[in-house]
Amino acid sequence: MKEKIQQKIFITGASSGIGRETAIRLAKEGHKVFAGIRRKTDKQELEKLSENITGVYIDITNDSSITKAFWYVMKKTDKLDVLINNAGIVVAGPLEFLSVKQIKEQFDVNTFGSLAVTQKFLPLLKDAKVINISSMAASGIFPYISPYCASKRASDILLNSFALECKENIKFISVKPAAVKTPIWNKSALKAHENLKDVSDINKQKYEKEFFALKQNASDNNTKALEIYVVVDKLIKIIKSKNPKQSYNIGFAATAADWASKLPLGFINKLIKWKLNHL
Ligand SMILES: NC(=O)c1ccc[n+]([C@@H]2O[C@H](COP(=O)([O-])OP(=O)(O)OC[C@H]3O[C@@H](n4cnc5c(N)ncnc54)[C@H](OP(=O)(O)O)[C@@H]3O)[C@@H](O)[C@H]2O)c1
Repeated sequence: MKEKIQQKIFITGASSGIGRETAIRLAKEGHKVFAGIRRKTDKQELEKLSENITGVYIDITNDSSITKAFWYVMKKTDKLDVLINNAGIVVAGPLEFLSVKQIKEQFDVNTFGSLAVTQKFLPLLKDAKVINISSMAASGIFPYISPYCASKRASDILLNSFALECKENIKFISVKPAAVKTPIWNKSALKAHENLKDVSDINKQKYEKEFFALKQNASDNNTKALEIYVVVDKLIKIIKSKNPKQSYNIGFAATAADWASKLPLGFINKLIKWKLNHL
């Protein structure tokens, strides 16, 4: 019988959604998982589920937290086989009303956070894989979540630069799922509500239809989006693969967005405007 090879994997944002399910599945398959969390209760809950899971406190927007997490993992292993940059948030709303500070928060987590974690953990990554959980939003064609789109595109560009520049034997892989049924959409709706609370009623009325569609979309994603296991299955395949591709779309909508983003911008914008006019 072929013996299963145990891999050592660090995943950020393992308290919920894709990160949590991936950590649990990998641990079940016998891998050693370092699960990035921010709360004691999340650490306790995950560690109770499997002795293969070790919770690691990490806020990816905080340098000293990243450094502490690095030393914590370093004390337990001298090598990681896989780093999964999964932690992420969605900042949504009309660009005209979002402050630069609010947009910076989007980049601080999705772009600079993932970058800082990758840089810090490089010394542990030997013959390894770095997987960024990007998104179909990286295609850049979705209005009202443009900070999210831009943060994911920027993160993909930086990841690709690692692939070109890095002297170590590390494979850098971007995974771009379509919408997935996770808490991220409800969190994003709450965040949008908070971020836009000072916008005047007159201004809000300008975008009434779009606000409604955004809310509807968030709630549709709870029922109509991809199941988490579809993403987890793909991640497991990538982790096992000796020769993974550099980029994966997951779900029909992700492939369609990828293709659409290659069409002339004027044409694709006309289509999107038409759709917005018919909300
Ligand atoms: N769901 C989708 O439709 C979808 C589609 C494509 C790509 N993605 C991407 O998939 C990844 C996971 O998202 P999800 O859908 O599973 O969402 P989720 O359930 O909301 O999980 C997000 C995770 O990120 C963590 N996180 C947020 N800010 C953090 C920070 N500053 N430091 C450390 N951890 C932080 C959260 O931790 P706390 O619990 O501590 O806040 C949580 O564990 C994200 O990168 C997202 O952009 C999601």
